[in-house]
Amino acid sequence: MKQILEAILSGDNAAVGELDVPEHYRGITVHADEAAMFDGLDSKEKDPRKSLHLDDVPTPELGPGEALVAVMASAINYNTVWTSIFEPVSTFSFLKRYGKLSPLTARHDLPYHVVGSDLAGVVLRTGPGVNAWKPGDEVVAHCLSVELESPDGHNDTMLDSEQRIWGFETNFGGLAEIALVKSNQLMPKPAHLTWEEAASPGLVNSTAYRQLVSANGANMKQGDVVLVWGASGGLGSYATQFALNGGAIPVCVVSSPEKAELCRAMGAELIIDRTAEGYRFWKDETTQDQKEWKRFGARIRELTGGDDPDIVFEHPGRETFGASVYVARKGGTIVTCASTSGFMHEYDNRYLWMNLKRIIGSHFANYREAWEANRLIAKGMVHPTVSKVYPLEDTAQAAYDVHRNLHQGKVGVLTLAPTEGLGVRDPALREQHLAAINRFRNR
Ligand SMILES: NC(=O)c1ccc[n+]([C@@H]2O[C@H](COP(=O)([O-])OP(=O)(O)OC[C@H]3O[C@@H](n4cnc5c(N)ncnc54)[C@H](OP(=O)(O)O)[C@@H]3O)[C@@H](O)[C@H]2O)c1
Repeated sequence: MKQILEAILSGDNAAVGELDVPEHYRGITVHADEAAMFDGLDSKEKDPRKSLHLDDVPTPELGPGEALVAVMASAINYNTVWTSIFEPVSTFSFLKRYGKLSPLTARHDLPYHVVGSDLAGVVLRTGPGVNAWKPGDEVVAHCLSVELESPDGHNDTMLDSEQRIWGFETNFGGLAEIALVKSNQLMPKPAHLTWEEAASPGLVNSTAYRQLVSANGANMKQGDVVLVWGASGGLGSYATQFALNGGAIPVCVVSSPEKAELCRAMGAELIIDRTAEGYRFWKDETTQDQKEWKRFGARIRELTGGDDPDIVFEHPGRETFGASVYVARKGGTIVTCASTSGFMHEYDNRYLWMNLKRIIGSHFANYREAWEANRLIAKGMVHPTVSKVYPLEDTAQAAYDVHRNLHQGKVGVLTLAPTEGLGVRDPALREQHLAAINRFRNR
């Protein structure tokens, strides 16, 4: 591994293909025999620092259409939080099911799960049938893993009957020194970014792109009012940028003055601090408070000059969904990709049908959407939102921060990269966007 890293750091990427692939590598894992460790605890009390381990694991064999990547940097996604607290189910159930598909996928069904759904790094080896990529290429990887053997996904790869999220529903993820991906997950690394910056947008950027911009999602247009929950978080920091970039008007919901400041730094003007304004959409565990929905809707109108949201960008789930359906404009769209606060949603259907609103489910992004989202990053039109970077050894602490909502934007992880700031190949483009790239840093 040392020689591979030295070759990459010295810029001699071509040499990487000549060097032996290490038989072992270090990766962040959960263990199958610990899947019941948090049983009986409330979600909030489950501590990723107890379940995430740094292990030395064997390098998997490379199959057809696959690539092994030397991972320079990765990022924390909320899916690693879900894996680490074994909610809503243990991810070993995904690995087991995937393992039954074929002898090749059986490699994934192991008593440990190497997690992580983002990476920036250098291709080490490619398997048979891979022509588009070669050892030494600098890449990022999106996290869509599909088989495409059934016709279901031939128009939209997200609809494949064997669609999975790499590093969550498959093994050998990106929070590690080496990762195994399908070669069609690979995309060019944005040349003006460091390894940790390039690794951070992938999953959330692609998800927000489909959810908000794509015709498969809310199909946002110029002038749309877009209510963005968690607007300085992982998904929200990209939704806010897409709204601004596409001529829409984001109304950003956050929970502190610091997070409000981040939204302003991205260019948003309409901001709601949900903590300062004290919204309580639930009176108790089972009863929602419609007066609070109305107060929230009135505040949005006050900010927009009377407009209701054309689009509500949803992911908090149970806690906010009733309010989201209520505040969307007549004919508006509530587009959801998650349920962080609980997946059994409750809303008043009268407001939905009488006002001809639509609820759209959205999940990650198809190949094309992921590529388009990465292209916007590579062109400097949308920027990474890295706020903090941890070494691989401290990944569990990084996941803890995200679980406790102590973070802002994205939290990066250095896997092989020895320090931050490496990997920039286009300093001129970087210089043009430096302030935007660093918006979330050093706050
Ligand atoms: N389906 C998919 O493809 C997909 C992809 C990515 C993520 N997700 C899911 O989407 C969710 C968010 O992911 P993320 O990466 O954006 O996480 P994140 O970085 O933690 O950001 C989420 C933000 O939502 C806000 N929030 C959290 N709980 C809330 C609540 N009860 N009410 C109102 N706002 C709340 C918080 O912002 P404030 O405190 O500032 O309000 C938080 O920062 C997770 O559940 C994740 O698993 C799904």
